[in-house]
Amino acid sequence: MKFANAQATVYNDTVVRQFAIMTVVWGVVGMLVGVIVAAQLAFPDLFAGIPWLSYGRLRPLHTNAVIFAFGGSALIGTSFYVVQRTNQVRLFSDKLASFVFWGWQLVILAAAITLPLGYNQSKEYAELEWPIDLLITAVWVAYAIVFFGTVGTRKVRHIYVANWFYGAFILAVALLHIFNNISIPAGALKSYSVYAGVQDAMVQWWYGHNAVGFFLTAGFLGMMYYFIPKQAERPVYSYRLSIVHFWALIFTYMWAGPHHLHYTALPDWTQSLGMVFSLILLAPSWGGMINGIMTLSGAWHKLRDDPILRFLIVSLSFYGMSTFEGPMMSIKTVNALSHYTDWTVGHVHSGALGWVGLVTMGSMYYLIPRLFGQKQMYSVKAIEIHFWTATIGIVLYIAAMWIAGVMQGLMWRAVNPDGTLTYTFVESVKATFPFYVLRLSGGLLYLFGMCVMAWNTFKTATAGRAVTVQIPAAAAHA
Ligand code: HEM
Ligand code: HEM
Repeated sequence: MKFANAQATVYNDTVVRQFAIMTVVWGVVGMLVGVIVAAQLAFPDLFAGIPWLSYGRLRPLHTNAVIFAFGGSALIGTSFYVVQRTNQVRLFSDKLASFVFWGWQLVILAAAITLPLGYNQSKEYAELEWPIDLLITAVWVAYAIVFFGTVGTRKVRHIYVANWFYGAFILAVALLHIFNNISIPAGALKSYSVYAGVQDAMVQWWYGHNAVGFFLTAGFLGMMYYFIPKQAERPVYSYRLSIVHFWALIFTYMWAGPHHLHYTALPDWTQSLGMVFSLILLAPSWGGMINGIMTLSGAWHKLRDDPILRFLIVSLSFYGMSTFEGPMMSIKTVNALSHYTDWTVGHVHSGALGWVGLVTMGSMYYLIPRLFGQKQMYSVKAIEIHFWTATIGIVLYIAAMWIAGVMQGLMWRAVNPDGTLTYTFVESVKATFPFYVLRLSGGLLYLFGMCVMAWNTFKTATAGRAVTVQIPAAAAHA
């Protein structure tokens, strides 16, 4: 009992440390697989004849590793840190928090085994088969109990906005995961979706787009609303805007999914509805970006010599860029050009590498030294190197994909005066080759930066030790 009381006065940072370390580890692994699939697109015969290293199996491994292993670990870990600090109370349950960590790692391990073996539900970003889906559900319920339980037992009256974003992420992902994965098992690792035809497509892209909106956006906005003010040592620019931002964003995202299904069998009005909501989405997205960037007002000079702040602010610039590009691509006539081309892949990675990647790295550079009782990372120079290699890598990646994408779209629609096609499909593939090599070099740079981060994290963790942090006394006894 005495022990339990002693624990109640300190934060549970053990689980945060575990997730922080695994964020870096899965970052390296997921990006390495990204580099491999990028190499396979340029040089298709790289692993010819080895089925479990084929492109079709490694690609979902890449997306699952970067989104759910790297992004997921970062989101769960930082949410556990932020929810304790902003509510000034220890996590609701240590046992459940530990289950969330080990359960999530087990999900990742199961994905890393089943995907290369070819087990796949054939739903993008929801590839994992039903037994793993059930495990995800159990872990997610535990996560929700720990997070909302902590908010429920808070010692401060106000619920800080970052918690609203994390909370929306947790609830929306639960909803999406359950409804998109309802299926009839037909064996230990085989199942059939209960939805069919165009309804299946509709549910899948309601899921897919909201995976972007809530997994790759809302949760990371929670991160942004905590770590940017902390690192800049400034309050959020406009708290009122953050509340408007929250409600507008979560309401609008849910309706935009059909922009993934333009010119398909989906009823035309549904496609137009998706387009209109995507255009509206520009406003809350930019409201959030402006709120984050303007948090630096009066402290712009800090950008000059604080590489962590630079990670965080540049991430918002990429967020602004991809949330401008997305609504443009959702316009049906623009989508007629961009769909099926590498433009989409460029858009994805300006969001994924630029926004999700950089905001995670900046937040981790803030967090990791504090978790190991250090003032700063082992090498600030290494953070600087990481920043520049990552930024140059992103620019090479997305510029290559934009050029390749627009070129492909134009080549596919070019017709001669007699109505015949000007180019064969294979000519467009051949013309894309140099851009695939350029993308590969961008990816290699980005991966290199992530490896530098892994080294820096290792040095910081081994130079320091796991520390316990007291909950402020006034709050603990409030
Ligand atoms: C070194 C870094 C990375 C490289 C080299 C890389 C490379 C690739 C490649 C080659 C593809 C397949 C594209 C295609 O099918 O034509 C891909 C897809 C994808 N990657 Fe990455 N990637 C990297 C990092 C990331 C990160 C950090 C994220 C997310 C946080 C991410 C998210 C995705 C997604 C969502 C797709 C699917 C895109 C779609 O279906 O349009 N990637 N990546
Ligand atoms: C206002 C915000 C956004 C809008 C309206 C939007 C819109 C779009 C559109 C129209 C597409 C192309 C669909 C197609 O032709 O197949 C797309 C694809 C995609 N976007 Fe966005 N986007 C937004 C922000 C983002 C952000 C911030 C990220 C990443 C963090 C992101 C990740 C993706 C992914 C992963 C895909 C590819 C899905 C797939 O086909 O596999 N988007 N988005």
